[in-house]
Amino acid sequence: MYFLPFLAALGLAWPYLTHLSLTQAIMLMALLLHYAKRCLEVLFLHKYSGPMDILTTLAIASFYTLVGAAASALNAAPLARPDGLFWLGAAFFVVGESLNFWHHKLLADLRQKTDLYLIPQGGWFAWVACPHYLFELLSWLGLALLSRHLFMYLAFVGMFGYLLARSLKTLAWYRAKFAQFPKNRKALLPFLL
Ligand SMILES: NC(=O)c1ccc[n+]([C@@H]2O[C@H](COP(=O)([O-])OP(=O)(O)OC[C@H]3O[C@@H](n4cnc5c(N)ncnc54)[C@H](OP(=O)(O)O)[C@@H]3O)[C@@H](O)[C@H]2O)c1
Repeated sequence: MYFLPFLAALGLAWPYLTHLSLTQAIMLMALLLHYAKRCLEVLFLHKYSGPMDILTTLAIASFYTLVGAAASALNAAPLARPDGLFWLGAAFFVVGESLNFWHHKLLADLRQKTDLYLIPQGGWFAWVACPHYLFELLSWLGLALLSRHLFMYLAFVGMFGYLLARSLKTLAWYRAKFAQFPKNRKALLPFLL
């Protein structure tokens, strides 16, 4: 699911790979790092309780490959020079990826002794059911600010809608399954949603 987008992003960068500008290099590195991190997490961190069906896998792989390829192709026309928003995007990306990883680790740690679902604790799980989605979104907002192409803002909005719907469903599932699930915990955005 994540290796194909990585290859697509690298392949579409081929024409400009030998003469990268600073903004182009940072955007490409961030994109490749995102997909590489996800490949490594899927291989070595997540402890899945079962396989994903092939149709869902193909649908998600196609979507991510399209986004990775388009983001990399658009990076042929990068921002001329870094501005304040560019560095804010870089900061969002670093914080988003780091905290997304941390919450993936907290989830994986729940599976040390059991394959069951437990109530996650620690980090931003104190406030929301899916902090890993929240920080994934912060990363993609960072990528949009690094790229400054309309497509990346639209990709961010699409992912926001998708992950908001998934986190609302996850929260409803936790509430139905665990009577003791903390009442103040929201789905995606602390104190709001
Ligand atoms: N950009 C996008 O549009 C997008 C969309 C979706 C995902 N993603 C990325 O992919 C990451 C993973 O997504 P996902 O939908 O697979 O997340 P998820 O359903 O929360 O699952 C992540 C891992 O944690 C385990 N897990 C979840 N809740 C648990 C609980 N209560 N107790 C014990 N283990 C639990 C899952 O096990 P099971 O396999 O048993 O459920 C799985 O191994 C996201 O955080 C994000 O970084 C990105």
